[in-house]
Amino acid sequence: LENGSLSIVVLGASGDLAKKKTFPALFHLYRQGFLPPDEVGIFGYARTKISNDELRTRLHGYLIKDKDASPEQLDVVSKFLNLIKYVSGSYDSEDGFLLLDKEISEHESLKNSAEGSSRRLFYFALPPSVYPSVSKMIKTCCVNKSDLGGWTRIVVEKPFGKDLQSAEQLSTQIGELFDEPQIYRIDHYLGKELVQNMLVLRFANRLFLPLWNRDNIANVQIVFREDFGTDGRGGYFDQYGIIRDIIQNHLLQVFCLVAMEKPVSLKPEHIRDEKVKVLQSVLPINYDEVVLGQYEGYRDDPTVPDNSNTPTFASVILRVHNERWEGVPFIIKAGKALGARKADIRVQFKDVPGDIFKCQNQGRNEFVIRLQPQEAMYMKLTVKQPGLEMSTVQSELDLSYIQRYQGVTIPEAYERLILDTIRGDQQHFVRRDELKASWEIFTPLLHRIDKGEFKSIPYKPGSRGPAEADELLEKAGYVQTHGYIWIPPTL
Ligand code: BG6
Repeated sequence: LENGSLSIVVLGASGDLAKKKTFPALFHLYRQGFLPPDEVGIFGYARTKISNDELRTRLHGYLIKDKDASPEQLDVVSKFLNLIKYVSGSYDSEDGFLLLDKEISEHESLKNSAEGSSRRLFYFALPPSVYPSVSKMIKTCCVNKSDLGGWTRIVVEKPFGKDLQSAEQLSTQIGELFDEPQIYRIDHYLGKELVQNMLVLRFANRLFLPLWNRDNIANVQIVFREDFGTDGRGGYFDQYGIIRDIIQNHLLQVFCLVAMEKPVSLKPEHIRDEKVKVLQSVLPINYDEVVLGQYEGYRDDPTVPDNSNTPTFASVILRVHNERWEGVPFIIKAGKALGARKADIRVQFKDVPGDIFKCQNQGRNEFVIRLQPQEAMYMKLTVKQPGLEMSTVQSELDLSYIQRYQGVTIPEAYERLILDTIRGDQQHFVRRDELKASWEIFTPLLHRIDKGEFKSIPYKPGSRGPAEADELLEKAGYVQTHGYIWIPPTL
């Protein structure tokens, strides 16, 4: 089944996401031989009336940045660009989609050998407002019609709705047209190397199995920081805010992998079953355990209303009502325009009972997974200070990828996930019931914020966010280690 022509259609081809993420990911796959030119055709679709060449020229600079690219590299770029055809049309009328279907069918008749099937992948790099109409048009005009097998799949991006009700409505609209195995809800955090490593770490290491619970773990932080603001995306961002932009999707997916029970097997459905279960075990958010912030200067963006209360920072404590996690706070924090760009998971262990070294005030054991930048994981331990004295010091076991996996290129999240959609593997995609459970957690809080009942505290760009967030962290029981800093190795 998996031979014959493959058509990849990027809807919203002239937009930001397509240029910055979708086409570059396709290019990387092409370069590595995953998109064989004797099978693959790539189609861009959008409203803008431009020619094939104009689209190709626009994309060029996003595919290869290096000004000193060799003639061979430039040749690969132009061969890739030549696979792309552009079709312009509206998102809610059949004309454009019939034309698109004609182009795809032509490509299929050229590429298909007698036993070939037709595989059609539609990537929605679009605003969600047009998802229902585009899905309808694809279903009516563009689905795979081959008798020889194949498939039609759609890839949809967040935001999937704005709250539980709108997300469910969207799911129903799309669900009436496509079956769940055809729908790939992409969350690019699930394509990150160290996010994908979470299940291996947790379930393939004897070391962690007995420790990963309320008896040993004091608290868990999942933190996302960016050192830039909404940068020209203020209009979009103001409608959503940091909880919908980062927390309800990206960080909650990471949370699932940290907190879920061991799946029966690695089958996508088994994994997703466990994710749903842990989401359903999250208690309603206690509003005393939420801090919202907005960086000063956010409202200077002309597309942001002067009185906007939209949070650009949020720290929220999630509590899981089950045998493993009762009483352990999961502090989920995300912010824009902070002092650094990084994302990590920080698991803090409890104090050692009966401490004979009197070293407790030096800090606790922590297991830190640095998702980005510079992938790493390190474990903070207390060891003997080397030397004649019997004194203790905090140090670490450090697995830094840059050092341990020299010469290994870590694939881009989108690259990996698009390959999964072609291969039909839904493990790293969000299932409908998972999406519903995630909205159930945040919808009451989001409605309060939308009604203006929850104020965002101003914070200085380049800072750690509102001081109240650090107070919340301390209240949740996190013990800060003073004087210890992890210095990532460099080559
Ligand atoms: C996107 C958000 O989903 O993720 C952006 O809309 C954010 O606001 C981005 O900047 C962060 O992704 P990454 O991979 O750079 O951490």
